[in-house]
This record gives sequence, C-alpha cells and structure tokens, in this order.
Amino acid sequence: MPNQENDTIIELKSVSKRYGFGDAESYALRNFDLTVKRGEFIMIMGPSGCGKTTLLNIIGLLDKASTGEYILGGKDVSRVSANKKARFRAKEIGFIFQSFNLVPNLSIIENVSLPLIYSGYRKTRRLRMADNILEHFHLREREYYMPYQLSGGQQQRVAIARSLIANPSIILADEPTGNLDSRNSHIIMEELQEIHSLGNTIIMVTHNPALTTYATRVINMLDGEIDTDIKTVADSELPRAGKGEKVSVKVLPSRKPIEMEIISDDDVVVSGKKVSTKKDEKESDKAEKTKKPEKDSKAKKTEKAKSDSKKKEKDEKTKKTDDKKKESKKEDKK
Ligand SMILES: Nc1ncnc2c1ncn2[C@@H]1O[C@H](COP(=O)(O)OP(=O)(O)OP(=O)(O)O)[C@@H](O)[C@H]1O
Ligand SMILES: [Mg+2]
Repeated sequence: MPNQENDTIIELKSVSKRYGFGDAESYALRNFDLTVKRGEFIMIMGPSGCGKTTLLNIIGLLDKASTGEYILGGKDVSRVSANKKARFRAKEIGFIFQSFNLVPNLSIIENVSLPLIYSGYRKTRRLRMADNILEHFHLREREYYMPYQLSGGQQQRVAIARSLIANPSIILADEPTGNLDSRNSHIIMEELQEIHSLGNTIIMVTHNPALTTYATRVINMLDGEIDTDIKTVADSELPRAGKGEKVSVKVLPSRKPIEMEIISDDDVVVSGKKVSTKKDEKESDKAEKTKKPEKDSKAKKTEKAKSDSKKKEKDEKTKKTDDKKKESKKEDKK
C-alpha cells in the first residue's frame, strides 16, 4: 500500500488571490485549502465569477497567488523563478481550454509538438512524436491542416493531444466541453476518462452537472471558497500506475484507441454506446415543421390553380352559350 503522504501531488495552503487595492479590492480566491491525491479526477463547479479559472491557473503555474503556499509534487513552488515554472509546467502539466487555444498560424502537427520545446529533442523527433499521437486521435490525415480548417470537436482533440504529448502527470481542463455539442462532449469525456484510468490526476472545471459522473470528487465553489467537497471514490480505490512508479500517461503507443464508429449523420457509437445529438434531432424536427407549411401551401396552390382553371372553363362555356343565344336572337330578327 503506497504511503498516503507521498500520494499527495498538489497542496494549496491558505491561498488567496486579490485583485485591486483599497475600495476596489476583491478576492477571486480566499484562504483556499486543497489537497489533491495522485489519480483523483476532480470536477470543480460553481457560479460564474466564483474563482474556478483563477484556481486552475494558480495550480497550473500560469498565475501566482497573492498570499499562501503552493506545494506541487512535494516542492514549494510559491517562490520559484518564472523560467523554472515554465519548465515544470511544460513537463508535468497539460492544459485543455474551452476555446481550444491552438496557435492559429501553426499547423496541427506543429501545435501538438509545442510542449516538447523544453524536452531537448530535435525538431524532427518532436514532429515524429506529434505524428504518433495524432494517429492515436485519428487526426493524422489532418496534421498539415491549419486550426481553422478543423471542426470544434477536432480542434479540442488536437488540444488534448497537445496536452498529453509531454507525458504530464496532471491534466487541467477549463470547461473543455463548453463549446462542443453533446456528441463531441461525449467523445472528449471518454478520452479524459481513459487518461484518468491510467493513473493521471485530472482537475476539470465544468458547468454541466451531468459530467460529474466521470469524477472521483466534486468540489462546489462559492465566492472564492469551497462550498462543498464530496469524494465519490475512496483514495484507496483511485487508479494508479503501480507502486513507486512515476504516474504519467503512457500514451501513447500502449494506449488502446477509442472505438468510435459514425453510423449516421446524427449518431455515433463510442466504446459500444450509441450517442445521438439532441441538438441535431431538434433541428431536424424544426426542419420538418418548416417543411410542412411549404407542402400545405403547395397543395393549396395546386388546388387554387385547379379551381381557377375550372372557373375559367365555366366562364368560357357561359360566354359561348351567351354568344350562341345572341346569334340565334339575331337570326330570329332577320
Ligand atoms: N485580471 C483580473 N482583474 C480583476 N479581477 C479579475 C481578474 N481576473 C479575474 N478577476 C475576477 O476574479 C473573479 C473570479 O474569476 P474567474 O475567472 O476565476 O471566475 P470563474 O469561476 O472561472 O467564472 P466563469 O465560470 O465565468 O469562467 C471574478 O470576479 C473576476 O471578475
Ligand atoms: Mg472560468
């Protein structure tokens, strides 16, 4: 049984983030305490502005706390240099954002290889690694596309590939499914679940309560503080890579590709489960509804045309009989 103390990967002690001074002073985080074990899948929820993104940015070393202590992997990182933080971030932390954050003027393969910049590998090796991971995500044939040429779901899969390429042990995801439809959200969640099952630690922000079924712990935040904190899986049950072994994504060659089959425009089977997009169904319903009046109006038009032509025939007949009558009257007079 691994030592519980050594299983702690993230520790925030009374961390506060303050913006502004004097009258304009406000706190995005207030005396925030958090201990995260390796292998946890934490979902952070809470109303807009309660400090979720601020928390992720501090954990991911993208932002600095105003006060408090941050211990990451047993090291106090509260006061390390910016350069050291950048290196640590590139090696240990993978980020996934709501808006994908791909670099627009770099190709997909270049985007994915970006986190390897601190790896010491030559560019050709970095690109080869990116090519491998893109194959795993079924995106190899698009690796020389530019980000704008990909759909939202594809861009987010590229962003996940990028977040994993340096074999990080922590994945931070800020509303990763926020810009996706239900089908793509499901695909992304299945990916995250698999990454988690390999023993990685995931902290994800979401506004969607339905997604908490994937989590081992759900934290609700309110005004920069923890409101509720519920673990749904005991620490001893958390996935781990093995005693004493560094827990990290073994991505890629050893990973099983997710089984995904598109069975129609609206339905896809992911790992044996059929997923259909409600949005699409509603849209097709709407389309049906808008089609119907069209049909009705067509039918009305043909009916009107028929009755018009009958009326015309009738008018012509009455005109002819009138003419005949007039002619016979003329002849009578003669
Ligand atoms: N650069 C900044 N300057 C001043 N205040 C800021 C800054 N960044 C964030 N804040 C404030 O900190 C608070 C927390 O913001 P944060 O982005 O963490 O919220 P959030 O929970 O992620 O919200 P959302 O669900 O809308 O993404 C907000 O009140 C916000 O106005
Ligand atoms: Mg946010």
